[in-house]
Amino acid sequence: MEKTNVLAFAGSLRRNSYNKMLLNNMVSLGENIININIFDISEIPFFNQDIENEPPEVIKELRKQVNDSEGVIIVTPEYNFSFSAITKNVIDWLSRVEKPLDNKPVCICGASGGYFGTARAQLQLRPVLAAVNARVMSKPDLFIPNAQNIFSDGGEILDTTIQNNIKDFLQKFNNFIK
Ligand SMILES: Cc1cc2nc3c(=O)[nH]c(=O)nc-3n(C[C@H](O)[C@H](O)[C@H](O)COP(=O)(O)O)c2cc1C
Repeated sequence: MEKTNVLAFAGSLRRNSYNKMLLNNMVSLGENIININIFDISEIPFFNQDIENEPPEVIKELRKQVNDSEGVIIVTPEYNFSFSAITKNVIDWLSRVEKPLDNKPVCICGASGGYFGTARAQLQLRPVLAAVNARVMSKPDLFIPNAQNIFSDGGEILDTTIQNNIKDFLQKFNNFIK
């Protein structure tokens, strides 16, 4: 099947973020499955309705890249049983004006230090994505628990079962888009 072009972002600003590592692993493990372009959200300001029609360049670029992509991958940490505030901020920017997330295929995943591996964060993210009318893949799930034990010093996932889960997730998302 033809490879789709998707945009992806990790909702953590932390330098050694497990979610950034997960996303980097998704890019390499998925190279024969799907084209993933990472968008760095570290310069995105807080959403402000006053400037939504004349936003900073980074927002114009974000909107353009989401519009041009065939799907979006959201990789979110879990903070206090929910997804991160910067993940919500990106969704809020994308929910208005050109509404780039409207009817856009989206899949969600994440890594956390806890036992549930962002499962609670992902459950909270789904109703928000319903509000912006994104077309969210239901299955399979992808969550990485105990992230501190999963990544090598170089940030690689060495466990072949997890590698295969990631490939399956990306293959299913590619099929979901088509
Ligand atoms: C404010 C805060 C709240 C957190 N809450 C949770 C939580 O509810 N569940 C969980 O599994 N981990 C929680 N953690 C631990 C994170 O999973 C861990 O810090 C992880 O490394 C964050 O993702 P990152 O590495 O991509 O930045 C929390 C961490 C922070 C800083």
